[in-house]
Amino acid sequence: MPVTVAPDLQAIVDRIAAEMAGREERGKVADYIPGLARVDPKHFGIAVATHDGRMFAAGDADAAFSIQSVSKVFALTIALGKVGDALWKRVGREPSGNAFNSIVQLEAEQGIPRNPFINAGAIVVSDVVLAGHAPKEAIGEILRFVRDLAGDDGIVIDDEVAQGEADTGFRNAALANYMRSFGNIHHPVDQVLGVYFHQCALAMSCRQLARAGRFLMHEGQHPDTGFNIVSPMRARRINALMMLCGHYDGSGEFAFRVGIPGKSGVGGGILCVVPGIASIAVWSPGLNERGNSTLGSLALERLAAATGWSVF
Ligand code: DON
Repeated sequence: MPVTVAPDLQAIVDRIAAEMAGREERGKVADYIPGLARVDPKHFGIAVATHDGRMFAAGDADAAFSIQSVSKVFALTIALGKVGDALWKRVGREPSGNAFNSIVQLEAEQGIPRNPFINAGAIVVSDVVLAGHAPKEAIGEILRFVRDLAGDDGIVIDDEVAQGEADTGFRNAALANYMRSFGNIHHPVDQVLGVYFHQCALAMSCRQLARAGRFLMHEGQHPDTGFNIVSPMRARRINALMMLCGHYDGSGEFAFRVGIPGKSGVGGGILCVVPGIASIAVWSPGLNERGNSTLGSLALERLAAATGWSVF
């Protein structure tokens, strides 16, 4: 059974940060855009926000990094708020077993992406967030939403990273155009991608990210205001998707090793949610062969072992 709050949580995160600082094997930093390529692979940060309102942090927990695909959790939450379960007519809920930017399943599956966390699915979600807005308004909505969740107006979008995404996003453009040919993208592709690239370029620290994920451990409720961001059932379902699809073709391995719903990004961040117990963010920029943070995954494995927080 999960432990409600491990009494020595600060000692645990300190120990994990010390172990990670000494690790040589860090994986490879994403290098497809300069804004990510120049990040020092030596970074490691961890922040744990617990259900009772406390925060335990260690390492580079206050350094901002590009949250990349972790943003897909927040964009999905906004999209569900706009169109509800109608979203599931346009995006599936199954693991893809393929790389995050793969196009292969779209042909046989009529342009319906397997889930909202692979790039194709996230691009459909961006199309939903864009509805009725100019792209700048949609981007502003995502930024304001994340700031509100974290209770922190200091969160920004890194425009250089967003521009780098646009300059190199040929596959994402291919995915969006391909889905548009099936009628599953409703707005001009450049506008949809503009929203997607800017949400990926959100820059946040582990502390800010852990705070932004708190509503998912609180059955959808914003812990600072008491208002519901989503219903309890929807929070459970977002967590389920994180567990099954949050690490792309590495999701099975992550569930096997860590056993906590989590969403990764190529900036090296991972957001994890232990329902009823904690919201956790880790960051280390070196990635494994599946595009997930090498030390972030290891740190979460250590944390789950030390706390008993695996949901299994
Ligand atoms: O779509 C892209 O290529 C980037 N914005 C990366 C997205 C991402 O983080 C995928 N994840 N692991």
